[in-house]
Amino acid sequence: MALSNDNEDIVARVKAETDIVRLIGEHVVLRKSGANFMGLCPFHGEKTPSFYVYPGTASFYCFGCGKSGDVIEFVKEYNHVDFPAALKDLAARCHIALPEKKLSERERRQREMQEAMFRLNGKVADIFRKHLASPAATAARNYLDKRGIGEAMRQRFALGCAPSGWNFLDKHLSTEERKLAVSLGLIVKKEDGGGYDRFRDRIIFPIFNGKGHVSGFGGRAIQGDGKPKYLNSPESAIFSKSHLLLGFFQQRQAIGKARRAVVVEGNFDLVSLVGHGCEEVAAPLGTALTKEQLRLLKPLAEEIILLFDGDEAGLKAAMRAAPLFLAEEMTGRVALLPAGHDPDSFVRENGLAAVRELLGQAAPLPEFFLEQLIARHGQSLDGKRLIVGELKTLVAAASPLYRRLVISHFAGRLGIDAQTIEERCPPEMSSRREMRQEPPPDFVTAPMPHEPAGQAVSPPQRVPALLPEERRLASFMLLHPWSFTTLIDAGIRDCLGDGGRILCRALENLLRERPEATAEDLLAILPPGAERAMAVEIFAEDGGRFLGDPQGELDDILLWLRRYRLRETSRRLLAEIRKAREDGNQPLVRELLQQKQEADRELSSGD
Ligand code: UTP
Ligand code: MN
Repeated sequence: MALSNDNEDIVARVKAETDIVRLIGEHVVLRKSGANFMGLCPFHGEKTPSFYVYPGTASFYCFGCGKSGDVIEFVKEYNHVDFPAALKDLAARCHIALPEKKLSERERRQREMQEAMFRLNGKVADIFRKHLASPAATAARNYLDKRGIGEAMRQRFALGCAPSGWNFLDKHLSTEERKLAVSLGLIVKKEDGGGYDRFRDRIIFPIFNGKGHVSGFGGRAIQGDGKPKYLNSPESAIFSKSHLLLGFFQQRQAIGKARRAVVVEGNFDLVSLVGHGCEEVAAPLGTALTKEQLRLLKPLAEEIILLFDGDEAGLKAAMRAAPLFLAEEMTGRVALLPAGHDPDSFVRENGLAAVRELLGQAAPLPEFFLEQLIARHGQSLDGKRLIVGELKTLVAAASPLYRRLVISHFAGRLGIDAQTIEERCPPEMSSRREMRQEPPPDFVTAPMPHEPAGQAVSPPQRVPALLPEERRLASFMLLHPWSFTTLIDAGIRDCLGDGGRILCRALENLLRERPEATAEDLLAILPPGAERAMAVEIFAEDGGRFLGDPQGELDDILLWLRRYRLRETSRRLLAEIRKAREDGNQPLVRELLQQKQEADRELSSGD
């Protein structure tokens, strides 16, 4: 089924006809709270309810994790599906027919060909699977037995076997199918017009896309003689290695439930870990991790752990992946296995608990990256110069939001000035994203729990664009009102833009009246308007982000503020010195110079 671009009408009808309280009530126990409902958030573990449903605006909002949206958003998040799938699901619920998109002749033919390709791949996967169960495949079954892959895992991953002949597939396929098999790379064409099977004498791993269709195959040689150990389908209209993860389709629910994904490098690593009960796993297909693969996992997992071999190759793979995580603003950690092991051999020898322990100790990826560089180059002057040079790829790839965090963090660890890293590592063009200009989603104007029922809903407000560092400050301040006085004393007000300053004032007024006020209280008193929209957006996006170590984060911010002020002071003094020079006021120049040197000294002593 396809959706046309002008399906706004359908979206509106689906939203109007879906009873949000009933829909969410099917998954969450809801209790009435004034005109609204509340319950335990289905998106993060909590013991006291902070998840609200607002029938008036048909929206939900969680004060714990910040998830929010309308009925479609709920289904997307809850079922881990994309927008069209959620819409389709809800439309079916309220018996609304979705229009089929009108396709051009070319699009239609292309679609038909792709469907035929998926059908053929499905059929071939079945042929290989049946062959694995046949008397002719004793060697393959023995091989799987030897590697500890039992019946359950064979079924789950639809494992198969390609026999050693050259024309096994031919006899199962029609002439039409054989042609298609050539374009899928299942049959390799010879110059004389004949063809032979690509996969021979191999264990077959069908590679499913997110919808459960077979996009391609991977094959592991059963005998270990000379030929490549693993062979994948070539790229085709329906197979792009860099966009797929082995095991994603089978394990996506487990990944969503665990809110994390473990990425391993090998096909057998995947099957073996799942077989031992570590279910939140997926594997790229023999290539370095790509951003498309990360994006597959992003909606399901809050963090990704790379579980790689402890050798040079595993280390390199982890280093190479680090910039991707920063560009995608995803949390990555890395666990390296003891020398000589891969995840498969490790779990077989040491068991699931040992794997879990390793995963528990996994190091955050950016730190890992830096520690590796430090280990390689040392902390001498020369070493630091080399390290900063090699940090380039990582820092340059980081999104604007992460860039500052990463730079200040690395500067702190290396004991050098953030400015030095800043200058040596200019951002990549692609990471200089546009400031957001589009209006916020509808839920931004949803009434909050403390608002009197029935109050008119204000029109959508434009969220003022904040610079990344302003955003980080405002976000921390809002989510941690207890830190407010400290932040004000440290001069936070000077570092915020207009929107931030208004928030500051609102928070100040609130705290004067009620020193114990929380972030929610602030939202309740902020009048509808741009600042409120900004606060709600911050809640929605960052609500869960600072749960880790607020005191550590506060220390970081205070340090940043102090340095910000010192830099400002130094800049101001420089201007005053120039002016005094022009005026020929030597005593003043001397005095100002002394002050500037003090500020500069303090700045570099913090390095
Ligand atoms: P490894 O060489 O680490 O092998 O390749 P492995 O996974 O431990 O293989 P087993 O345990 O001996 O079966 C890691 C992954 O890289 C891809 C495969 O996806 C493999 O699982 N690969 C490897 C290839 O695509 N081609 C190759 O020739 C080798
Ligand atoms: Mn292995």
